[in-house]
Parts: sequence; C-alpha cells; structure tokens
Amino acid sequence: GSQRTLVLLKPDAVRRSLVGEIISRIERKAGWQITALELRSLTQDVLEQHYGEHKGKPFYEPLVEFMSSGPVVALVVEGERVIEGVRTLAGPTDPIAATPGSIRGDFGTIVRENLIHASDSEESAERELKIFFPGLA
Ligand code: CMP
Repeated sequence: GSQRTLVLLKPDAVRRSLVGEIISRIERKAGWQITALELRSLTQDVLEQHYGEHKGKPFYEPLVEFMSSGPVVALVVEGERVIEGVRTLAGPTDPIAATPGSIRGDFGTIVRENLIHASDSEESAERELKIFFPGLA
C-alpha cells in the first residue's frame, strides 16, 4: 500500500552536485510523489535523535561530524512500497558492495559517505519524519 519515508541526501551528495541525479531517480518511479523537500544544516540535537540507536558505536562520532559538515537535502517521499523502494534504489550501506545501477553502487566508495539515508521500516519512517518534519500531519 501507500507509505511515506524520510530521505536525506547526505553532505557528500550535496558537495558533489549529485542532488539532481538522485532526486531524478526517485521522481522517475511510477506513482511516487515528493511531498516535502528542504536544504538544511542539521543541528547536533537532530542528529542525536536521528542516530540515537548508533550512539556508542565506533562510527557514531565521525558519522555525526560528517553529517554536520555541510547541508543535507531532506525529503518526504510518498507512494507504493516507497520504504523498501528507496532502499533498493540506494543499495546496501557499503557502496563497494552495492550493485552498479544503485545510487551507492554508481557513485559511492566510502561507507560513511554513502550519499543517501532512507528509513528502513514503517516504524523508523514515522519516528524520523517527526524529527525532520514535525509539522507534518
Ligand atoms: P545509514 O545506514 O544511512 O545510517 C547509518 C550510517 O552510519 C550509515 O548509513 C553510514 O553512513 C554510517 N556507517 C554505518 N556503518 C559504518 C561503518 N562501519 N563505518 C563508517 N560509517 C558507517
């Protein structure tokens, strides 16, 4: 059925001018709609909420540092099976393991700088949407 998901184009995607390329891939999927879109710099507070489950892991501090190294593009995407669908477009976390044709497989090499975040379940999507777009219905 129809779902909504939070997508973040990470600071590496913005710096490398890949925003149009990535959004274009999302836009071309039949029946999906971008219903919110904003370029913004993430505060420590937002990052702590968003990545709370990773706190204490060795990659957490550098991840937060990277995610605040420049603006991100935050989007809400709605449509048929969009949660699984955007993650398929993105490819697996490690860009070297990602298949060419996926966003990470085509453009990434570094695990941390893997271009895109997409919610991994309906529960995460609702939790993350509240953090990034609290005004949303
Ligand atoms: P994502 O899956 O969107 O959310 C967690 C992020 O942490 C992940 O993307 C990577 O950017 C980063 N990450 C996860 N595992 C590692 C790792 N082993 N080393 C560095 N960064 C990581």
